[in-house]
Amino acid sequence: MRSQPLAACFALAFALTSGAALADPPSDPPAAAPAAATPSPPVGKAEAGRTLAYTCQGCHGITGYKNAYPSYRVPKIGGQSAQYLTQALTEYREGKRKHPTMQAQSMSFSAQEIADLAAYLSTVK
Ligand code: HEC
Repeated sequence: MRSQPLAACFALAFALTSGAALADPPSDPPAAAPAAATPSPPVGKAEAGRTLAYTCQGCHGITGYKNAYPSYRVPKIGGQSAQYLTQALTEYREGKRKHPTMQAQSMSFSAQEIADLAAYLSTVK
């Protein structure tokens, strides 16, 4: 009896915390989506991404670079999977992830540029 609401609470908490980080199920209406939401994402070019990633280095220490702002925690982005990086940047861009700095950063990129960035950053150790 008493464990029921507790379990529901955990389930809800899990759904809330994992929802942002995990992929949303792509099973929903593909037919209703406009042409912009193509099922095949652009292929990232690491060379192009390297140039684009220049501005990221100030905050996200990339190999050999120190964080310019060590006063707050900045996640490590180098070496993460391209898929994860693409998703994170896309979510910032669409406002699904809320962070003023990263939303501003990602807003200036096209889907192709995000793919390029992800391709490059995933190769950085
Ligand atoms: C002014 C500082 C700053 C700059 C410049 C910056 N970022 Fe960020 N970035 C952050 C902070 C702070 C976070 C954590 C935000 C949060 O908590 O959601 C973050 C988060 C991220 C994340 C999510 C990482 C994760 O594991 O959740 C990615 C991906 C990312 N940044 C990529 C980039 C890229 C690519 C660039 C360059 C185009 C860039 N950032 C430029 C400060 C910055």
